[in-house]
Amino acid sequence: MTSCPPGLKPPGYRTEPTRLEDKVAIVTGGGSGIGRGVCLAYAREGAQVVVVDNDLEGANDTVRRLEAVGRRGLAVRTDVSDAVEVDAMVAATLAAFGTVDVLFNGAGITIPASLLDTTVEQWDRILAVNLRGQFLCLRAAARVMVERGHGKIVNVTSILGAQARVNRGAYGASKAGIISLMQTAAVELGPHGIYANAIAPGFIETPMAKSAPATPEETRRKLAAIPLRRRGDHADRTGPAIFLASRESDYVNGIVMTVDGGFTASVD
Ligand SMILES: NC(=O)c1ccc[n+]([C@@H]2O[C@H](COP(=O)([O-])OP(=O)(O)OC[C@H]3O[C@@H](n4cnc5c(N)ncnc54)[C@H](O)[C@@H]3O)[C@@H](O)[C@H]2O)c1
Repeated sequence: MTSCPPGLKPPGYRTEPTRLEDKVAIVTGGGSGIGRGVCLAYAREGAQVVVVDNDLEGANDTVRRLEAVGRRGLAVRTDVSDAVEVDAMVAATLAAFGTVDVLFNGAGITIPASLLDTTVEQWDRILAVNLRGQFLCLRAAARVMVERGHGKIVNVTSILGAQARVNRGAYGASKAGIISLMQTAAVELGPHGIYANAIAPGFIETPMAKSAPATPEETRRKLAAIPLRRRGDHADRTGPAIFLASRESDYVNGIVMTVDGGFTASVD
C-alpha cells in the first residue's frame, strides 16, 4: 500500500468530484426545476450535458449557468412527445459529443383537474408529454447505448405513480405508466449493459409545484405529514440522480427510488 505523509493527499486524490467524468448526459426538462438542478449537478461531476426542453429560453439559460461554472453544454429545443424531434435531438447529441452515456428523463407537465372535469385533450397531452415522451427519449437514447454496450437511464416518476391525490388523475396515470416503462427497460436492456431506474420525488419546490399554489393551512398540513418536516431541496433532488447515473449504482437496476422525506412511509 502506498503511504502518504500526514497533511498530503494520497496519489490520485482529486478535489473535484468526478463521478461522471467524460460522460455525455441528456437531461430532458433541463430548462427548469429538477431538470436544471440535475444539469448543473451532472456538469459538476464532469459530464458534458445536453439540455433538452421545449422552452429554448430556459434551456439556453441553463447552458449559460453550466458555462459559468466552466462546463460545456448544448441546448436543444425539443418537444419530447414528438418522435421526429426526439430522434433529431439524439442525432444532435451524437454530432456534438459522439455518444450518449446517461439519459435523465425529467420533462413533465401537470394540469390539475378532477376526473369529471378532465378533458380528453388534457388527458392526451399529459400522457403524451409524460409517458410517451419518456418512451421516445428512452428508445432513441437506448438505441445508441445498445451499440456502445453501456448506459444509465433515470426516469422521473412521482409518488403519485403509486398513490392517488385529488385532481391529479391523468398525471398519476402517466407516472404509474413510467414505472412500468422503466421496469420493462430494466428487463429488456439489462443484458446489454444498460440500467433503467426511476426517481419518485415527493414534495419538491419547483415552478411546477408552484403552479398549484397551496394555502398556508394546506402547506402546514403537507409539511406535518412529512416525517422530515420539510420540502426537498436542491441537494435532495440531485443526489439520487447522480447516484443512479454513476458507477456507484452498478448493481441497481429496475428500482423506484422514493425521495419524499418519508411521506409515503407514514400512515399518519
Ligand atoms: N416538483 C415536484 O414536487 C415533483 C414531484 C414529483 C415529480 N416531479 C416530476 O419532476 C419532473 C420535473 O418537474 P419540475 O417540478 O422540475 O417541473 P418544472 O415545470 O420546473 O420543469 C419541467 C420542465 O419540463 C419542460 N417541458 C414541459 N413539457 C415539455 C415537452 N413537451 N418537451 C420538452 N420539455 C418539456 C418544461 O419546459 C420545464 O422546463 C417532472 O417529470 C415532474 O412530474 C416533480
